[in-house]
Amino acid sequence: MQYSNEHNNLEAAKKLDGEDPLRKYREEFTFPELVDGVDTLYFAGHSLGLLPNRTRKVMEDELASWGKYGVEGHFLGEHPWLPYHEFVTESLSKLAGCKPSEVVAMNTLTSNLHLMLVSFYRPQKNKFKILIENNTFPSDKYAVDSQARFHGYDASEAVVELKPREGEYRVREEDIVQQIEELGDELALIMLGNCNYLSGQCFDMKTITELGHKHGAFVGFNLAHGAGNIELDLHDKNVDFAVWCSYKYLNSGPGGIAAAYVHEKHHGQKDIPRFEGWWGTNKDTRFKMGPNFDPIPTVEAWQLSNPPIFQLAALRSSMHLYDEAGLANLKAKSIKITNYLEFLLKENVGDFVEIMTPPFEEGKQTRGCMLSLRFKKNPKDLYKVLGEKAVICDFREPDIIRATPIPLYNSFEDCFKFVEVLKEFANA
Ligand SMILES: Cc1ncc(COP(=O)(O)O)c(C=O)c1O
Repeated sequence: MQYSNEHNNLEAAKKLDGEDPLRKYREEFTFPELVDGVDTLYFAGHSLGLLPNRTRKVMEDELASWGKYGVEGHFLGEHPWLPYHEFVTESLSKLAGCKPSEVVAMNTLTSNLHLMLVSFYRPQKNKFKILIENNTFPSDKYAVDSQARFHGYDASEAVVELKPREGEYRVREEDIVQQIEELGDELALIMLGNCNYLSGQCFDMKTITELGHKHGAFVGFNLAHGAGNIELDLHDKNVDFAVWCSYKYLNSGPGGIAAAYVHEKHHGQKDIPRFEGWWGTNKDTRFKMGPNFDPIPTVEAWQLSNPPIFQLAALRSSMHLYDEAGLANLKAKSIKITNYLEFLLKENVGDFVEIMTPPFEEGKQTRGCMLSLRFKKNPKDLYKVLGEKAVICDFREPDIIRATPIPLYNSFEDCFKFVEVLKEFANA
């Protein structure tokens, strides 16, 4: 949809909300109350998603099971704990575009990344390089650096960063291709954040995966900012592995359980390098408590421990919302509302704000719903003012504010009011 001057007012924003088929989902969430008497404008779903109201009941149910059944809760009740992680598998597989056997909820994000690197960073003499983004999330950088050192390599030599051109924020597609080609057979692994956490740039998973494979490298993605935000088809794109957290777009709560995907071509290999735990062994014999690991022939072989049920319960609850709202509807609204926010920014504070995130392109996935904004006038003061007015987004040094209209719970009116606050500050 093309926006024009007639959309630059509150009535138009309200009209867009009135036409939004997903508008009822806003009522499903609890909005924080941070400033007395002021409605919060929440634009930080890329950091921590809001609490779905129904999650309270789902958590209560598990507490009740614990109270009622004690240890027998593993086998009794509507949702026994023994197979509890399986209750989210179907939803996660739709989200990730993969087979249910390829995805599992487990652990936390950085732990899962390490587990995947154990399996998919297999350096050999001159084939040891890892390609990441230049502005990757610090935890990802620490993870790959430490894995390179663990294998005896100098991390500054092993870990290579994709770089945007001088004065640019986004890495150009042709430069990504060129860099992979240049690394050629030295490349052992490509591991990119999709979208990039800072700029919101989406990478072309198909091209990158094909190129990586051409050079005999494994290719994996950190989808912390992708899961629940961009369209994914990990299986068909032949991606080797992926990991993501669920506390951002997936609204599972602070420190919520993470997920991992491993392509089925890597399943059932007894000799794959892997750190093992009892939750990864054959379910039929697990409780015989034998000494030898017999991997489950799915991604579940990567599980270590019996999982945290309360975190899984919160994820189960929020995934129902995704299933109900429907991924195609969410995608359609994501495009519409993000384009609206971008339009309002350009129209009202265009001289004051630079948008780092790539523009929308029809038929191509260039971004999700997060916009990274660089402010040309006192960004830290602005961030303070936003907080005082109960506008919640986040600040990244030196001058970046990330703001995200989440299709499940943000409204077009939120976007309009947010830009009004920016406009007031810019004109002060
Ligand atoms: C891209 C990316 N990687 C890693 C992390 C770290 O996540 P965790 O603390 O859940 O391991 C985050 C968290 O925001 C992230 O956005």
